[in-house]
Amino acid sequence: MSGEFRNITVREEETLELQKLMEHVPIPIKESMEEPSAKVNVLLQAYISQLKLEGFALMADMVYVTQSASRLLRAVFEIERLYDLEANDIGELIRVPKLGKTIYKYVHQFPKLELSTHIQPITRYTLRVELTITPDFQWDEKVHGQSQAFWILVEDVDSEVILHHEYFLLKYKYCQDDHLVKFFVPVFEPLPPQYFLRIVSDRWIGVETQLPVSFRHLILPEKNLPPTELLDLQPLPISALREPRFEELYADRFPQFNPIQTQVFNAVYNSEDNVFVGAPTGSGKTTIAEFAVLRMLQQNPHGRVVYLVSRDALAELIFMDWHQKFGQNLGCKVVKLTGETGTDLKLIAKGQIIVTTADKWDILSRRWKQRKNVQNIQLFIVDELQLIGGEEGPVLEVVCSRMRYISSQIEKQIRIIALSDARDVAQWLGCNVNVTFNFYPSVRPIPLELHVQGFNITHNASRIAAMSKPVYNAATKFSPHKPVIVFVSSRKLGRLTAIDILTYCAADAQLNRFFQAEEEDIKPFLVRMTDKTLKETLSLGVAYIHEGLTASDHRIVEQLFDSGAVQIVVVTRDLCWGLNISAYLVIIMDTQFYNGKSHSYDDYPVTDVMQMVGRANRPLEDDDAKCVLMCQSSKKDFFKKFLNESLPVESHLDHRMHNHFNAEVVTKTIENKQDAVDYLTWTFLYRRLTQNPNYYNLQGVTHLHLSDHLSELVKSTLSDLEQSICISVEDEMDTLPLNLGMIAALQEIIFEDNILAAQLPNKLTVPNETAPKYIDPHIKKNLQLQAHLFRIQ
Ligand SMILES: Nc1ncnc2c1ncn2[C@@H]1O[C@H](COP(=O)(O)OP(=O)(O)OP(=O)(O)O)[C@@H](O)[C@H]1O
Ligand SMILES: [Mg+2]
Repeated sequence: MSGEFRNITVREEETLELQKLMEHVPIPIKESMEEPSAKVNVLLQAYISQLKLEGFALMADMVYVTQSASRLLRAVFEIERLYDLEANDIGELIRVPKLGKTIYKYVHQFPKLELSTHIQPITRYTLRVELTITPDFQWDEKVHGQSQAFWILVEDVDSEVILHHEYFLLKYKYCQDDHLVKFFVPVFEPLPPQYFLRIVSDRWIGVETQLPVSFRHLILPEKNLPPTELLDLQPLPISALREPRFEELYADRFPQFNPIQTQVFNAVYNSEDNVFVGAPTGSGKTTIAEFAVLRMLQQNPHGRVVYLVSRDALAELIFMDWHQKFGQNLGCKVVKLTGETGTDLKLIAKGQIIVTTADKWDILSRRWKQRKNVQNIQLFIVDELQLIGGEEGPVLEVVCSRMRYISSQIEKQIRIIALSDARDVAQWLGCNVNVTFNFYPSVRPIPLELHVQGFNITHNASRIAAMSKPVYNAATKFSPHKPVIVFVSSRKLGRLTAIDILTYCAADAQLNRFFQAEEEDIKPFLVRMTDKTLKETLSLGVAYIHEGLTASDHRIVEQLFDSGAVQIVVVTRDLCWGLNISAYLVIIMDTQFYNGKSHSYDDYPVTDVMQMVGRANRPLEDDDAKCVLMCQSSKKDFFKKFLNESLPVESHLDHRMHNHFNAEVVTKTIENKQDAVDYLTWTFLYRRLTQNPNYYNLQGVTHLHLSDHLSELVKSTLSDLEQSICISVEDEMDTLPLNLGMIAALQEIIFEDNILAAQLPNKLTVPNETAPKYIDPHIKKNLQLQAHLFRIQ
């Protein structure tokens, strides 16, 4: 209660009347009648509701209360106006010059935030909002403490419906920084004129900032092509391959091809067409890729194929599998690229089946003009194409565009088989409508039961703590005896979760309920185990896997889990792509991870979540699969939507143009500005510009809009490169590589960091011999440290 009302007391003779009023006021009052605050509240409400008063005593108080209240409210509103004044002006305004400074200080202690947004349509029904929050007040620890809480609200045009709400915690440490908050809001047709974005302080009255977001110039994306129906076909037997040595590869794996494999079989195995297959995780797309390889081997026993997968870990898994399948059984030379150009050139010279990730193939295929072994690829398979919308998307986009371009230049078909979890990349890769299969996410070989559990706790650590018991409950309820994989965001959490689960087991007096073998059986494995905690939990049936485990420990866990001895394994998020195990139940324990770069919690990419969900899939053992996804309540709808609908993908090439342009200038694919524009026409970006113009900051879809946008993009990218002395541009037209650009292209260094790294005497090496990632904080620090030591500016 404000100090203004300090002198108000409740007198004996008033209680009766106050009691009566209390029953009539619209908003119930919690405090007892003896409290002065209750009296003030009653009087205010009575005044607003125009209730009649009887006694004079109350009347006098009433006048005092209403007048003070209006003054207080006015003060709250007037702070707004004082904001723009200097200390002197404030002093003059209140005619107490001495107080000017003090009031100025207080006014600027109101936790005011500035807002700006960037809105992109993702689908016709979903907008992606990037909200930049800039604190605009003086932080005083005595007033503000260590953190200030706010609520972000998105309201519809009448401010009637809250479309999204989110908690935002501003910490003292970062009170000078901009904060980026990303979220999704729904839109409905017909398009409303605007929404309102508000950010309201959790503690300070009247502290809020509102930002209208106009939709006047919003262009929603084109409608997607309708998905492909799964036909009710008789599953094809393995013998459909009509070649005994091929059939043998599958004889002991599964009895027949599944419905999706059956439906695409003809297009992939019996034609030369480029084919696109979009189908959910776990639907057996690897086998579809194998159809294409087998077709090629049948038509041309010396044909060569590149299989592009998303991650190193996955490349390793596929390589081992194919080494067996195509190498030992069919006598083909299977190789996996390393990222080291010299070695890789030798590998592609002798390899017939080349397994690689996009970045490695990018480096090798850049100089395709000189490299016959790149030109004579016949089949190009790209897997997980949905990742084109993610972090590594631009590289994926560039290599696919390049393969199409090479094919057009050498006038020889390079057959493309594209596998994806998402849709609408087909046209770009030259797949005709009749060989484009966009299956619904629901057509999985075995049905998936998805439970999304919302937790209404915004503080991350508390929310994760609150999920601990529900994880245990979900396991015992949905999968008391079958294998369970739990995904968590960090190593530490992985270990803790395993221990927590065991603690709950102990509390239920069933300590080793998740251990399904004899102790003797696993002894030989335990002896070899190096991680001590893991050894303990493992012997009770709960294991964990994270990036820090030794390869051998990792393998032991997978083996024991696969054999069924260990029923639960907790896995860190990053490993979801290279996981060689699947389960009956998958539990995703929260969907955010700590991003050290932005000091904030970021959402997992949807593609990661889909990959995790896909681990719930054992087609030969189970008739169904289950997934429990635990997340913050405000994200529930989002996940429900995107896990049940197709995932839309957009290009991010325009954010990573510098590296690719630089590389193409060095290899002379781009020799002038016109080449650069032509280069872009082969990309997915080019296709999407007209499909979802607003996403790419295009204001229209006419030919003029498009060509202006492309020339501007080319112009600005090339001039950036020119300024950083990577290339030179002559006569405003021709592009020539310079030394620094050549070094950068050779060393595969990210644009911003290249200048620094290229000057270092010590070539950076990292343990697993992959190229160092310059965006990794520790590598960046290493660079900076070296730069400092060697006095490089
Ligand atoms: N016809 C089949 N019958 C039974 N199991 C099959 C069949 N085809 C593939 N599988 C099995 O299904 C599992 C999933 O296959 P695969 O990894 O190829 O799926 P995917 O569609 O590539 O999934 P992701 O998107 O996760 O990569 C594998 O364990 C595979 O052995
Ligand atoms: Mg796959």
